[in-house]
Amino acid sequence: MSLPNHAPIPELYVSSDSAQKLKLTAGQLPSWDLTPRQICDLELLMNGGFHPLKGFLGQADYDGVVENMRLADGTLWPMPITLDVTEAFAEKVEPGQDIALRDQEGVILAILSISDKWTPNKANEAEKVFGADDIAHPAVNYLHNTAGKVYLGGPVIGIQQPVHYDFKARRDTPNELRALFRKLGWRKIVAFQTRNPLHRAHQELTFRAAREAEANLLIHPVVGMTKPGDVDHFTRVRCYEAVLDKYPAQTTTLSLLNLAMRMAGPREAMWHGIIRRNHGCTHMIVGRDHAGPGKNSQGKDFYDPYAAQELFRKHQAEIGVEMVDFKHMVYVQEKAQYFPANEVPEGCTVLDISGTELRRRLREGLEIPEWFSFPEVVNELRKTSPARSKQGFTVFFTGLSGSGKSTIANALMVKLMEMGGRPVTLLDGDVVRKHLSSELGFSKEHRDLNIKRIGYVASEITKNGGIAICAPIAPYTATRRAVREMVEAFGAFVEVHVATSIEECERRDRKGLYKLAREGKIKEFTGISDPYEAPTKAELVVDTENVDVDHCAHQVLLKLEQMGLIRA
Ligand code: PPS
Repeated sequence: MSLPNHAPIPELYVSSDSAQKLKLTAGQLPSWDLTPRQICDLELLMNGGFHPLKGFLGQADYDGVVENMRLADGTLWPMPITLDVTEAFAEKVEPGQDIALRDQEGVILAILSISDKWTPNKANEAEKVFGADDIAHPAVNYLHNTAGKVYLGGPVIGIQQPVHYDFKARRDTPNELRALFRKLGWRKIVAFQTRNPLHRAHQELTFRAAREAEANLLIHPVVGMTKPGDVDHFTRVRCYEAVLDKYPAQTTTLSLLNLAMRMAGPREAMWHGIIRRNHGCTHMIVGRDHAGPGKNSQGKDFYDPYAAQELFRKHQAEIGVEMVDFKHMVYVQEKAQYFPANEVPEGCTVLDISGTELRRRLREGLEIPEWFSFPEVVNELRKTSPARSKQGFTVFFTGLSGSGKSTIANALMVKLMEMGGRPVTLLDGDVVRKHLSSELGFSKEHRDLNIKRIGYVASEITKNGGIAICAPIAPYTATRRAVREMVEAFGAFVEVHVATSIEECERRDRKGLYKLAREGKIKEFTGISDPYEAPTKAELVVDTENVDVDHCAHQVLLKLEQMGLIRA
């Protein structure tokens, strides 16, 4: 008898003949270049991962999803899947029109028939979907600072799936997984969602979960977009492959999911459940603080650690997969074995290494015991996270014009070059504006572009093991944060606020610009007629008013040493 989770699920693709024809006509349509997150969403829309959605949400569906997690027809759907575009693009298109959706190389992936165009209330979306309008939440930050202002909704006609060059054999559409389960005769499948490398505790818990549910196990890690700062997916996949051998043969499989996570905790857990149902799973493991975004701007958790389990349980029947709640596994020293935290024999010693502690040990090249992780996994992690003193990093000075950023940055560069070991590049504000950003002015848009270019170059330098020293004004918090995220994917980001007051900068007026700004001869001048948002979380604040440059540069060096980035 055929099981519902083995039957094919509807996709949004047209036949390959029609796709060929559509591609030609779509070439004439207005086209939107999809962002990396939109490409992830589109792939799962087209391949049935987001079934029953037939496209990007229209306004009525969006309102229902935001307000009560339901589409306009009442179907449970917890996450807004929206196509955000710029105002400039939105002005050029109207409901009733078709547009081509292209990947970042310009390949046409789909056609969207626009049914709705509207300007969402993002603060409301943040409150309702993510629980708070607080940009400490990565998806709220994305919503306000990356996503376009206007949403387009409507059905999608799939032409081709996005191209992936990495780990092709490990990627499966929902129908490919359903067919695999059918072929293997797997009736019950428990999915394990993850964005982290698997250590022994995870292996134990997934193994136990599968045994309890009398099911086979699907390790289903997210390789689309996860939380900024996570271990990159290339490293993780090598780690997963190493762990796969540790499960009994024929019980477990690994498949990569090109999902863009939102870190929305309870709502996200439900969304993950629906996606797993679509991929042919019957069960899903939901752990403590599932898809948690970390701390809010008051330093508190965004969600109660068990809120995801509660919400999932409440909607389990509609989600269509059964929850296996996470047994928090801990290592018991005397027994040399993992136990669920609530079953530890009395009087025994529990050992644990937190994520933060693990990162510290990797950073400092310290021992990671075998009871905690598999040597193959630790090896992979060490390859991509060598000790910090061997990694690249970025020092990012920010402050008003004339605050002394360039002078300190130059002194720091010379000191670092004297120490040797890593190449050092100085991306000074004026120099960048000459070589990288000569066409830009000082509007918010141009300043942001300028800083993002600096961030891009700094992140490449960091990735390749060098030291980037940046010294622009960088007046906007959100833009500095975007640069931090770019760099932190590859190494440390050290933000140094050169906190010279506007009065002192104006008194010095080295370039005579403040005078001109006061006279109105230079417009949009930072601190005079344009904002400067002082950092609140800089790694270091330097005062230049009663201190010489050499001392300021030395303070930065001490900070770098304290962070393990340079050796004394
Ligand atoms: S930004 O906002 O980060 O893009 O600015 P940045 O590229 O660092 O600016 C570099 C120098 O441009 C000079 N300058 C101005 N600064 C601020 N506002 C206005 N309108 C402006 N016009 C010119 C200024 O000398 C900056 O030099 P620094 O090195 O900061 O003194």
